[in-house]
Amino acid sequence: MRVFQVEDNWSMENARIGSRPDPLPGPGEIRIKMKASALNYRDLIVPERGYGSRMKTLPLIMLSDGVGIVESLGEGVKHLRVGDRVCPLFFQSWIRGGEPNKKKLLLSLGCEMDGTMAEFMVLPEGGVALAPVHLDDLEASSLPTAAVTAWRALVTESGVKPGDKVLVQGTGGVSLFALQFAKILGAYVILISSSDDKLSKVRAMGVDETLNYRSIPEWGKRVREIAGGDGVDHIVEVGGQGTLPQSLRSIRTGGTISLIGVLAGGKMDIPLGPIVTRHVRLQGITVGNRDDFSNMAKAIAHHRLHPAIDRTFAFDEIHHALEHLSSGQHFGKITIKH
Ligand SMILES: NC(=O)c1ccc[n+]([C@@H]2O[C@H](COP(=O)([O-])OP(=O)(O)OC[C@H]3O[C@@H](n4cnc5c(N)ncnc54)[C@H](OP(=O)(O)O)[C@@H]3O)[C@@H](O)[C@H]2O)c1
Repeated sequence: MRVFQVEDNWSMENARIGSRPDPLPGPGEIRIKMKASALNYRDLIVPERGYGSRMKTLPLIMLSDGVGIVESLGEGVKHLRVGDRVCPLFFQSWIRGGEPNKKKLLLSLGCEMDGTMAEFMVLPEGGVALAPVHLDDLEASSLPTAAVTAWRALVTESGVKPGDKVLVQGTGGVSLFALQFAKILGAYVILISSSDDKLSKVRAMGVDETLNYRSIPEWGKRVREIAGGDGVDHIVEVGGQGTLPQSLRSIRTGGTISLIGVLAGGKMDIPLGPIVTRHVRLQGITVGNRDDFSNMAKAIAHHRLHPAIDRTFAFDEIHHALEHLSSGQHFGKITIKH
């Protein structure tokens, strides 16, 4: 089968289209004919062994997002049928709900184990979830990583309620899912971006207030004012070092900052006092589990949401797709048609 894999050395140059023997499902496993994959920011980091020594030995099939059709069943598979359309779950070690622990966060696709950029995948039947039927393959492929992360941050961990004020940073995959979920939860959404063009697009998606973080680098005070002086209830934090000081200015007393990414730096020196005295909850998020996926998929189906797809590339254009991701020009998800 055709795959896209990091071959004999950790580097993006060694990520190539190659071939592997077709896998066969064992007992309790299914074989999936993959239809589409989607990119995440981590796919720029993985080939450089950015997640350290716990990563799988090479070769490693890349990407954590995808969708496919169940094509054959191993002995004893109970809950799935040939023809079901499924998304492989990001964590193959954190299937059922509940709190994460070290063991549950051990095995993620396209990092510690082979990912979705393959003609076929073989996984345990519990390692997948049904894709919402109203989505096409490209849309469905974009759900397992960014969408589950946004859902976990806003719903599972924080219980965002109607009328809550939510600050979303940027217009990448996680952020636009966060915007869509916050709106169906009835929240008031403020979104910051580096681009006025992108800000006009999010206004069309229902964002209540927008700010350009390039033209207003000290956006924290302005966000606080927009939120009525007390600050926002929840922040979807993807910047880290470069954004957290402003986020701390924007958050209300008792509010939650979901720390999801460190796009603007991962180390910092900040006064910690306000986090204590203002009772701020700084919540780390690492995607989620099958219950998160299934609950999110129900909400996506009920509200007929469609993920924002920026551009679609062919399988053999994967390097162009990764370059496009790296350019930061995208708005939402970049997908790959298999
Ligand atoms: N913890 C988890 O479970 C988890 C899961 C998925 C992703 N992540 C992390 O979350 C981050 C976003 O991932 P993604 O896949 O959504 O990335 P992405 O699609 O590449 O989106 C990145 C977007 O972030 C915005 N951004 C960059 N620097 C910013 C800054 N200083 N202030 C505000 N916004 C900024 C930009 O939006 P504009 O172009 O609009 O400015 C950019 O387009 C990455 O760090 C990724 O590793 C973590």
